[in-house]
This record gives sequence, structure tokens and C-alpha cells, in this order.
Amino acid sequence: MSVIFSGIQPSGTLTLGNYLGALKHFVDLQEDNHCYFCIVDEHAITVPQDRLKLRDNIRSLAALYLAVGIDPSKSTLFIQSEVPAHTQLGWMLQCVSYIGELERMTQFKDKSQGGKEGVSSGLLTYPPLMASDILLYQTEVVPVGDDQKQHLELTRNLAERFNNKFNDIFTVPEVSIPKAGARIMSLQQPTNKMSKSDDNQKAFISMLDDEKTIRKKIKSAVTDSEGIVEYDPQNKPGISNLLTIYSVCSGRSIDELVEAYEGKGYGDFKTDAGEAVVGVLSPIQTRYYELLESEELDQILDQGAAQANRSAEKTLKKAKKAMGLGRVH
Ligand code: TYM
Repeated sequence: MSVIFSGIQPSGTLTLGNYLGALKHFVDLQEDNHCYFCIVDEHAITVPQDRLKLRDNIRSLAALYLAVGIDPSKSTLFIQSEVPAHTQLGWMLQCVSYIGELERMTQFKDKSQGGKEGVSSGLLTYPPLMASDILLYQTEVVPVGDDQKQHLELTRNLAERFNNKFNDIFTVPEVSIPKAGARIMSLQQPTNKMSKSDDNQKAFISMLDDEKTIRKKIKSAVTDSEGIVEYDPQNKPGISNLLTIYSVCSGRSIDELVEAYEGKGYGDFKTDAGEAVVGVLSPIQTRYYELLESEELDQILDQGAAQANRSAEKTLKKAKKAMGLGRVH
């Protein structure tokens, strides 16, 4: 039994990458662990957001968490901005973070490539807020996709630094990255990560794409001209990515798939891979649309916020005392 924490940004519809790299694993983890799953809306505002769209996206993400199988009687599902301790501890952790280490984060470097003038300072101080999310719950394991590895390293460093400098308050968390599906690639540029912010809609599968669109996107995925189904991410990134997607969605191993499609070219392979994705996403979508309309959603989020506030406040109090903030009660 471990304490688990993970978060997802409500910044648009999630992709198949978010599902296979993160969400899918949350469901299994909740059986034997104490899980917190968070809608990190304060992280989303590090880049400009339309207020009404953000509100819709928060609700939509809550419904998606539940639709994939997060069970509120087993896990705590909540919205980050409804638990003030996140930004409070986030500030305290900013004060133990160094500008140099924050500037070295690849996500910050990527997003500030066009110059630092138009980039919010929140984008720079995003990782201490993420560390706060995790450390407030004395988290032991953080399940994430491959792209969050560097942020998790920093979280561990900040926890250790705080513990050494002030008092031994925080559990130093371990990262858990799935063996398969940790980095689902773009369908159009398979050397890049699949991302919901890609300008090319054909590059990613949204978790809410209809069946026809899913099939079409897989059919038009960039591959190569060899016509041999083989797992070789270096030389055949397109086919290797589809093999990963097909394998994780069908539960069949990559070796088994390679054998099954030997000498058959890419046509049948892509059709069947598309069916496997539809088979996974379609039932999730049915539940999602039911949940979105239900009042149950608000009750679950209220209850989640209350539970999260109770746990987070305990750690925040200890951390404030360790740093000498406020008065001792
Ligand atoms: P976010 O919202 O970008 O992504 C949510 C989760 O999806 C994973 N992911 C992927 N996995 C495989 N292939 C892909 N193409 C792919 N794209 C995204 C991410 O690794 C992530 O696990 N900073 C985080 C949110 C966050 C958080 C936290 C996570 C805030 N606080 C505390 C864990 C713990 C983020 O932007 O994820």
C-alpha cells in the first residue's frame, strides 16, 4: 500500500498518449494504494487560457478520469485550485529552488525558445508547484509518462534539500514510468512526442475522436516504404509507434504482432491497429458523455477537495513551522 499522486493539465482534450502513458495505469494502481488524482488547473494557466474553455476543460477532464475507471470510493479526485495549500507550499518551494535549475528544465527551454519577453514567469516556476502537488500528500510513487522524468528528478532534489535545510518533513517520491506506452509519438512526425497542442490534427488521436476519425488518422499515419512490420524505433519510428499503440491497446505483445503481420504489408496492420484503438476508446467515450451531464460529478469533486484539503493542510502546517513562517500554535 503506497501513497500515489499524479496530475493532468486541463488544457484541451487529452490524447491517446495521455491515456496510454498515464491514465490507463492510474486505474490499476487504485486497487491496492492510496491514490490522489488531480486536475492541475493552476499549471494550465502558465500559458494563456480562455476562461470559459478552461472551465469546460476542467469538467471534461474530471469526467474522463471517471470514465476510464477512476473510482471515487477508492481514489481522491480533485481540482488543484480548490486546495490552496498547493500554491502556498509552491511558493515556499520556489524559495528553495534555484533559477539556474529551473532554467535547465527542457519543457521551459522548449516553451521559451522564441525569447523570454512573452513567456510568463509561471512557466519557469511550474516545477516547484508540481513538487508541491506531490510532496503535500507524502507521496511515495508518481506514475507519469516519460516527458515528466526531469520534473520528478527536481521534485526529489527539492524534497531532499528542504529536509536537510529545515526539518525532515517530506517523503522523497519515486517515479513510475510504464514499460510500454511511456512516450507515444506523433502520427505525422514520429520522432516527436504526440501532443494535444500540435497544429496538425492528424498528428494526434484525441480521446474523444469519433471512430471514423480514429480509423482515418491511423490509416494516414506516416510510416516508411519498406512494407515490413518490425519494431525498430531508430530506423522505423512510424511503424514502431503504431506497434506500441496496437500492442498496448490489444494486450498482445509486440513480438506476437510482428509475427502475425509477417509478409502482409502495412494495410491490414493499420486497419487492425485502428480497430484496437477504437475498441479501447469507444466504451470510455460512452461513459464520458453520460458523466458529463450528471450532478454526481460535482459531488465527487466536492468530496475530493475536502479530503485533499485535510491531508494537504497537515503537511503544509509542518512545512511552515519548519521554515519559521507565521506563529507557532
Ligand atoms: P500533462 O498534462 O502534459 O500530461 C499528463 C500525463 O500524460 C503523460 N503524457 C504522455 N505519455 C505518453 N506519451 C505521450 N505522448 C504523452 N503526453 C503526455 C504525461 O507524462 C503525464 O503523465 N506537469 C504535468 C502535470 C502535473 C503532474 C503533477 C504530474 C502537475 N503536477 C504532479 C504528476 C504529479 C503535465 O504537464 O502533464
